[in-house]
Amino acid sequence: MYDTLRPLLFKLEPETAHHLTLYGLGVAQRSGFAHLIAKPPAELPVNIFGLRFPNPVGLAAGLDKNADHLDALATLGFGFIEVGTTTPRPQPGNDKPRMFRLPEHEAVINRLGFNNDGVDALVRNVQRATYRGVLGINIGKNKDTPNEKAVDDYLFCLERVYPHASYITVNISSPNTQGLRDLQEEATLRRFIETLREAQERLGSQAGARKPMLLKIAPDLNESELDAIAEVLSEAKVDGLICTNTTIDRTAVIGATHAEQTGGLSGKPLFKRSTEVLRGMRQRLGADVGIVGVGGILDGDNAAEKIAAGANLVQLYSGMVYRGPHLIGECVEEIRRQGMMHAR
Ligand code: FNR
Repeated sequence: MYDTLRPLLFKLEPETAHHLTLYGLGVAQRSGFAHLIAKPPAELPVNIFGLRFPNPVGLAAGLDKNADHLDALATLGFGFIEVGTTTPRPQPGNDKPRMFRLPEHEAVINRLGFNNDGVDALVRNVQRATYRGVLGINIGKNKDTPNEKAVDDYLFCLERVYPHASYITVNISSPNTQGLRDLQEEATLRRFIETLREAQERLGSQAGARKPMLLKIAPDLNESELDAIAEVLSEAKVDGLICTNTTIDRTAVIGATHAEQTGGLSGKPLFKRSTEVLRGMRQRLGADVGIVGVGGILDGDNAAEKIAAGANLVQLYSGMVYRGPHLIGECVEEIRRQGMMHAR
């Protein structure tokens, strides 16, 4: 079905197509027709972070920034859904246009800039939804909050989302909020993570339920920066890592229409680098830390390769734009097939 719709959607401005698709999915779900859109995959359970994931293929952050579409997205068969990035206060994001397709590369460039309705609106949407599956809530900072005060924004969001999330993702890797990625620098990251870790444990004992916290990193980090991040994560006993966010590197798409647009590049050209970062972080961190692999998964084989490189779970975003909901089941089946091959 998505193969028929895609040429029509690709005629529309990307952000319009995005909203229309999610609106249509919502209508289908409320009318009881969602089963016509995608057949949910058979279970392939994964236990990690103290949680049970019915399958290892999740939705990446950024597609449902406000958790407006949780119930509709849940019908597609994801093993987990991550919503956000959310910020303390609502903000409009950057001027439009701010999202571009590079179809010949099966890629997207976006500079949305954390457009969202604020954390309180997100929490209300989560409370209203009937979805009871694994829910990640991805948190960030407002554009006008200086980096010296960034931790306050993250603490604000952490406290509000904590009771409603299965896990929380700390996003310090979007290229579209000026200075955000500087939080990945070692000394800054150490102080920042220690503060959030204390809050995580305090909130856990208050609520009587500890929630895992994951850090989402950029693919544009060199080996010594990755060494430093791994050390901080191990020292602070962070539960997990998401590798990776979008890239500012354009080498793989030189000459393509929109290649020069400012923002983060995602999709197929990101696969190689994001998988290298994932593999490198698994080698550095050992088996104790859970890792979510994301970046450039366009088919089942890509998903299985992320798992082989050390991911416990994977996430999709741009692949959904190019391949549609069918990609979820394809990834689950290929991970199952290659897992059975290795088990032999
Ligand atoms: C994103 N991504 C993202 N990540 C994040 O942590 N918070 C966010 O708000 C967003 N927003 C966002 C918007 C758009 C339009 C895109 C394409 C991506 C990054 C996303 O979660 C993922 O890490 C990357 O896109 C790489 O995966 P794919 O797209 O190559 O599968």
